[in-house]
Amino acid sequence: MSNKIPVAVLAATGSVGQRFVQLLDNHPWFEVVALTGSDRSIGKPYGEVCHWLLPGEMPAWAREMIVRPSTPEAVQAPLALSGLPADLARDIEPAFATAGTVICSNASAYRRAADVPILLPEINAPHVHLIEAQRRLRGWSGAITTNPNCTSTGMSIALKPLQDAFGLKRVFAVSLQALSGAGYPGIASMDIIDNVIPNIGGEEDKVEWEPRKMLGTLSGDSIEMASFGISAHTNRVAVTDGHVVTLSIELGTRAKPAEVVEVLRAYQGPKEARGLPFSPNPVIVVRDEDNRPQPRLDRMTGSGMTTVVGRVRPDSLLDIRMVVLSHNTIRGAAGGSLFNAELIARMGYLGPQYTR
Ligand SMILES: NC(=O)c1ccc[n+]([C@@H]2O[C@H](COP(=O)([O-])OP(=O)(O)OC[C@H]3O[C@@H](n4cnc5c(N)ncnc54)[C@H](OP(=O)(O)O)[C@@H]3O)[C@@H](O)[C@H]2O)c1
Repeated sequence: MSNKIPVAVLAATGSVGQRFVQLLDNHPWFEVVALTGSDRSIGKPYGEVCHWLLPGEMPAWAREMIVRPSTPEAVQAPLALSGLPADLARDIEPAFATAGTVICSNASAYRRAADVPILLPEINAPHVHLIEAQRRLRGWSGAITTNPNCTSTGMSIALKPLQDAFGLKRVFAVSLQALSGAGYPGIASMDIIDNVIPNIGGEEDKVEWEPRKMLGTLSGDSIEMASFGISAHTNRVAVTDGHVVTLSIELGTRAKPAEVVEVLRAYQGPKEARGLPFSPNPVIVVRDEDNRPQPRLDRMTGSGMTTVVGRVRPDSLLDIRMVVLSHNTIRGAAGGSLFNAELIARMGYLGPQYTR
């Protein structure tokens, strides 16, 4: 019998769900025991209802699995990785947490809840201990944890070493976001080919808020938000995978580009987040070429888990500017949730039987 940790994937047929299935193939700690979907898919083999969009074959073990409803009764597992749409996550995820399952969610439904962490372990692993407050306050034996919006991901990771070394005052962010971030089928081809769409519903609010929670400090039963300000413009571009964010940054104390590059390259993150199967190694790569990072060339750096920074240079209004690239469905979604799940297992929140 396998001694791996049983895991369910909620909304397994979607963009994020497929990435989960792909990345869980041969995972050293986790074994998929259930895949869920909507009424369209329930009761049918995953191989029949999932329109597989990723390079490489659908794993053979997934093909024959029968898609189940997203209820704790139909899915019994200590851990569930969720690619549910936010409106459904609002009711479904607490039902699992009540039943004793720890959820690692990609949905925005609970990111703003004071007792729910938004985790990027390489910058805020200690926020995982909010699970204790959540269990005490809500009476859950499971928990809900989240990862951020995929645009907040790379920029928050790149900002953390600068916050530690110099402090942050103001950040101006412009995103160039890939199509896969809109799910499948996403945006109609006639709307995006030869085009840029200068609005992504709700995204600017998320990008201006979530990094400040993640870069905040755990204090009692909540997170004290980081005090710097963010102004964000978010745009959809005709790239398949990989979100680019350009940043202009006002630091607490001024620093030269070479000093910024040095702290970015040296950054290692909290010790709890190192050495896990999905830990990015290195956390950040800084490229020296003046035309990098580029999504097509650089998104798979560190198997898609490493944040890639380039064009670190002086800013004519603030202090420093740079370009950040992060793979939106790997580091920004499914890979990020898996990394969170590994941290949770390491910290003992799945119970002693499943502590790694
Ligand atoms: N794509 C990204 O880069 C990204 C990044 C970060 C966060 N997110 C978030 O992740 C979530 C999923 O996004 P996505 O891009 O994967 O969306 P998507 O491609 O549109 O997939 C939606 C999924 O939801 C499933 N679903 C719908 N109703 C359901 C129900 N009642 N029970 C169970 N499953 C149900 C669908 O299943 P059927 O196929 O069976 O209908 C499908 O698998 C969203 O909350 C999104 O905001 C996405």
